[in-house]
Amino acid sequence: MTNDFSAKVAVVTGGASGMGAATAVLLASRGANVVIVDQNAAAAAELSMTHDLAVPQIGDVSDSAFCDQVVADTIDRYGQLDVAINAAGVIVRATAAATSDEEWHRIMRVNVDGTFFMCRAAVRSMAWGGTIVNFGSIWGDLGADGVAAYCASKGAVHNLTRALAIEHAKDGIRVNAVCPGEVDTPMLRSARAEPVSSDMLENIAATVPMGRLAQPVEVAEVVAFLASNRSSYMTGAMVSVDAGYGAR
Ligand SMILES: NC(=O)c1ccc[n+]([C@@H]2O[C@H](COP(=O)([O-])OP(=O)(O)OC[C@H]3O[C@@H](n4cnc5c(N)ncnc54)[C@H](O)[C@@H]3O)[C@@H](O)[C@H]2O)c1
Repeated sequence: MTNDFSAKVAVVTGGASGMGAATAVLLASRGANVVIVDQNAAAAAELSMTHDLAVPQIGDVSDSAFCDQVVADTIDRYGQLDVAINAAGVIVRATAAATSDEEWHRIMRVNVDGTFFMCRAAVRSMAWGGTIVNFGSIWGDLGADGVAAYCASKGAVHNLTRALAIEHAKDGIRVNAVCPGEVDTPMLRSARAEPVSSDMLENIAATVPMGRLAQPVEVAEVVAFLASNRSSYMTGAMVSVDAGYGAR
C-alpha cells in the first residue's frame, strides 16, 4: 500500500457521495487527514464515522464565507492545508430552451462559484507543494444535447483550473482537473424524467467506447495521483477518465 498522503491534510467537497466519497476514503487509506465538506450532514457524518475521518464541515460551497471558514478551521486544527479536492456539483438535465433562470443560477452557483470560492480560499492558505484537483467533465470540453447549463458550468471549471495553474505555478501550488465520463454515482441516476432502469443504464453504457460505466474508485485513483507528488510535473491539465469517450 502506498502512503503518499502521510501527514497531509485534505479537504474534499462533495465528499459525502459518489466520487468525492471514494476520493475521501482513498486519501484517508493512504495516510491523509481528510475533512469532508458537504451539505448532506447525515451522509457526511456516516462516512466520516465509518472511515475514521475528521469531523465533517457541513454547508453550501456556493457560500464564499463558508468556504473561507472551512479552510480557516482546517488550518486552526491541523496547522496546514495540503490538498483541496472540489467534487461538489449538481446537474440539470434540460436543453437551454427548457432551463429556467433558477436552474441556470443554481448550477452556476454550485459548480462554478463553489469551485472558485474553495480554490481561492485554498490558494490563499496553501504552502509550497499544495495541490488542488477540480472535478470537470467530458461535458466541459464537448457539447451535448440536454445538459446546456451543465456543459457551460464545467467549461468554466476547466478554464478556471488552467488560469489558477498559471497564477500559482511559481508558488509550488499545482492545480489540475479530472474529467470523468459516465460514472455510476447518485448524480448519474438523478434529475431524469423517468426512474432509472437497468435498460437505461445499459443504454448509457453503450454510448461509451469501453461499453461500461465507471465505478467511483476508478476516478478517485486518478484524483489521488493528481493530488500526490507522483504528478509533480503536472499542472493545468484536464485529465480525462472517460473510457475513450472524448477520443472520438
Ligand atoms: N457521475 C458522473 O457521471 C459525472 C461525470 C462527470 C463529472 N461529474 C462531476 O463529478 C463530481 C462528483 O459527482 P458525483 O457523480 O460523485 O455526484 P454525487 O451526486 O454522487 O455527489 C455530489 C456531492 O456534492 C454534494 N453537494 C452538492 N451541492 C453542494 C453544495 N452546494 N455544497 C456542498 N455540497 C454539495 C452533494 O450533497 C453530494 O454529496 C461533480 O462535480 C460532477 O459534476 C460526474
